[in-house]
Amino acid sequence: MARRPLIAGNWKMHKNHLEGVQLTQKLAWALSREDTDAVEVAVCPPFTALRSVGTLIDGDKLPIALGAQDCHPEAQGAYTGEISASMLAKLGVQYVIVGHSERRQYAGEDDELVNRKARAVLGADMRPIVCVGEVLEERESGRTAEVVQGQVRGSLAGLSGDQVAGLVVAYEPVWAIGTGRAATADDAQETIAVIRSTVADLVGQGAADELRIQYGGSVKSSNAEELATKPDVDGALVGGASLDADEFALIVTGSARRAR
Ligand code: 13P
Repeated sequence: MARRPLIAGNWKMHKNHLEGVQLTQKLAWALSREDTDAVEVAVCPPFTALRSVGTLIDGDKLPIALGAQDCHPEAQGAYTGEISASMLAKLGVQYVIVGHSERRQYAGEDDELVNRKARAVLGADMRPIVCVGEVLEERESGRTAEVVQGQVRGSLAGLSGDQVAGLVVAYEPVWAIGTGRAATADDAQETIAVIRSTVADLVGQGAADELRIQYGGSVKSSNAEELATKPDVDGALVGGASLDADEFALIVTGSARRAR
């Protein structure tokens, strides 16, 4: 089964457009062709840096995909401060993160809204990166599988097998995000396998086998390679460590070694 892993950097609310260009340039220098043949690499800057980073990627033909961190579910309208999926597509954006736990937590997003956003992204011919993951209390009370299954069913509701096959799910346990306490590779594998079988239930085994499922939460160069040894883990969604070009490149190298 040849799923090409996706290593994506979620910059969150870091880097203005000038810093974003510098970081992307540095990253491109640090990546080898061998690595970017084996794994796909993406950066997800804040909205304000998408145009500049996208122009650099295009102009220099860098082997890096462009992603955004969110979008509005509607195509257009009186939604002050919001950004539509088609606006992102027009900038050459290929991936859009939807339902990140920080948006679920701080902006009150639920599975229904995440589902509408995922549809908007697909409708604009981009790929959603749909985030799911349990909070600490849910893990400690043994409810991880149940919580994540519910999020997957809600966020992907009504999508076709073809649509699901082409998108990305990121399993990000909330307790592992920004804490330095990553899930073990075995724990990540276990929950990601649950996600894959839930997707098989929803839209069939074929689509579930094609779907890429990333792990996210305190991924660093020191744990990326072990995560990449797990059969159901198809790359990583990296926060803090993606802000350092050399560290992010090492994560790519470690994952690529296992993907070849
Ligand atoms: P950290 O890698 O900083 O833990 O963040 C993970 C994350 O939320 C990526 O979307």
